[in-house]
Amino acid sequence: MVIKELSLSGALVQGLGEAARVLRFSSRLPEQGEVQFCAQVIRQINGAVAVKFYHPDRSTLGNLWEHIRNRLNTGTECPYCGKEKGGVRTRCQACGIALDLEKSDYLDRHLKNTFIQRLQSRLDHLDPINIEKLLNLVDRELLKYHGEPREEEFVGTTAVMLEVFTMIRKVAVTDMNVLILGESGTGKELTARAIHERSDRRDKPFVALNCAAIPEGLIEAELFGYEKGSFTGAYATRKGKFELADGGTIFLDEIGELPPGLQVKLLRFLEDHIVERIGAKGGKKVDVRILAATNCDLKSMAGNGGFRNDLFFRLNAFTITLPPLRERGDDKLVLANYFLKKIALDEGSPVKGFSPEAKTAIMAHPWHGNVREMINKIRRGIVMASQELISPQDMELEPAEVAAEPSGLKKQVFKTQREVVLRTLRENNFVIARAARQLGISRPSLYSLMKKHQIENETARQ
Ligand SMILES: Nc1ncnc2c1ncn2[C@@H]1O[C@H](COP(=O)(O)OP(=O)(O)OP(=O)(O)O)[C@@H](O)[C@H]1O
Ligand SMILES: [Mg+2]
Repeated sequence: MVIKELSLSGALVQGLGEAARVLRFSSRLPEQGEVQFCAQVIRQINGAVAVKFYHPDRSTLGNLWEHIRNRLNTGTECPYCGKEKGGVRTRCQACGIALDLEKSDYLDRHLKNTFIQRLQSRLDHLDPINIEKLLNLVDRELLKYHGEPREEEFVGTTAVMLEVFTMIRKVAVTDMNVLILGESGTGKELTARAIHERSDRRDKPFVALNCAAIPEGLIEAELFGYEKGSFTGAYATRKGKFELADGGTIFLDEIGELPPGLQVKLLRFLEDHIVERIGAKGGKKVDVRILAATNCDLKSMAGNGGFRNDLFFRLNAFTITLPPLRERGDDKLVLANYFLKKIALDEGSPVKGFSPEAKTAIMAHPWHGNVREMINKIRRGIVMASQELISPQDMELEPAEVAAEPSGLKKQVFKTQREVVLRTLRENNFVIARAARQLGISRPSLYSLMKKHQIENETARQ
């Protein structure tokens, strides 16, 4: 058996019997000595077979990396994508992967930075049910780390954000339910975590559930858990999020998407704090604080019958509204500098700051995706920058003048969108669910469009 090619994740092997599917083999590396692998055959290639390693342990991985690193060509091509790697020595200009191979922490950083790509390539072959199972698994694993200190800082210097910080501090020590409002990416989950971490519950779990990300039929099982055999596929008894969060905090994200049946169950839970697993004979009392968030206008939804009024009042004991990033003045630059330092440090990038044009563009950009959009733009800027300073083009930001002054086309699109939304609402007599269905969007999306275009429910005024 001859190993023709060797990488961190697998090898190309010649002379392996046809029948082998899973195998264990050892190989002698010239400088590192004997290493053992457990591998799975994934395909035949011209008489050889490609095998994938099952999670080698750290010392095997370390030896393997040392062996590969010593043999990597130091020419002008990137060893990952094969394209010209460009002038910057520490990072490939084509694929963006870090190339400072000689640094001692390279392997750890590489595994972290390419995690999403590796996950993505595996997800392509999975169906939605298996993706769901995987997410549950990841959720459970992540829960184990709840006690570790978080690296994230909550950054803000403008008056509105200082006000938000004061509210977080004040409400954290109470046991009140809090409703966190704000556009997508404004930091609602960060706020929820900040409340939990400043509360007496900080040593207990913080459990998050995104109501929009889970299919309607699975939310109940996720929240309340189930007994073995209570439905097809319930192979073992499982605790729900409420039980897992016992003593701590549960964060219900995108609460506006909670289906009506579950709204009733949540309301009942808020009243007695008893969870009854699906298929169970009795219930169990749990002690959880509920924080909820939404980017839709829950108050209008409650007024229009789109969300239960009584549940809205229960959840809304205290409200924190996060301002959109475009309304945070100089914080745009404060945040941009914070993320630049954080990401550049994490990735070992030599990028030092923003060019004057980039700073102007950051201040002028409308940031509809808020802080999350900013993080993505800066990440891209760091990868693309060919010098120490990031330019607006590196971040794909429009030149400031254009961003500040919406073009004729943008205005026209805005106007047309308003007309279509208003017409559809009138055609459906302002029945939101029907109008949303006709437009092919969700109810919360329609509520936010109504808010954006300042459209009021005309039937409510009559
Ligand atoms: N003021 C801030 N300081 C530092 N990081 C922030 C701040 N606001 C948001 N972030 C970061 O931005 C990202 C998005 O924040 P978060 O997930 O809390 O937003 P969200 O409002 O819950 O978004 P969505 O509605 O899309 O779920 C996170 O990585 C968060 O850590
Ligand atoms: Mg969120």
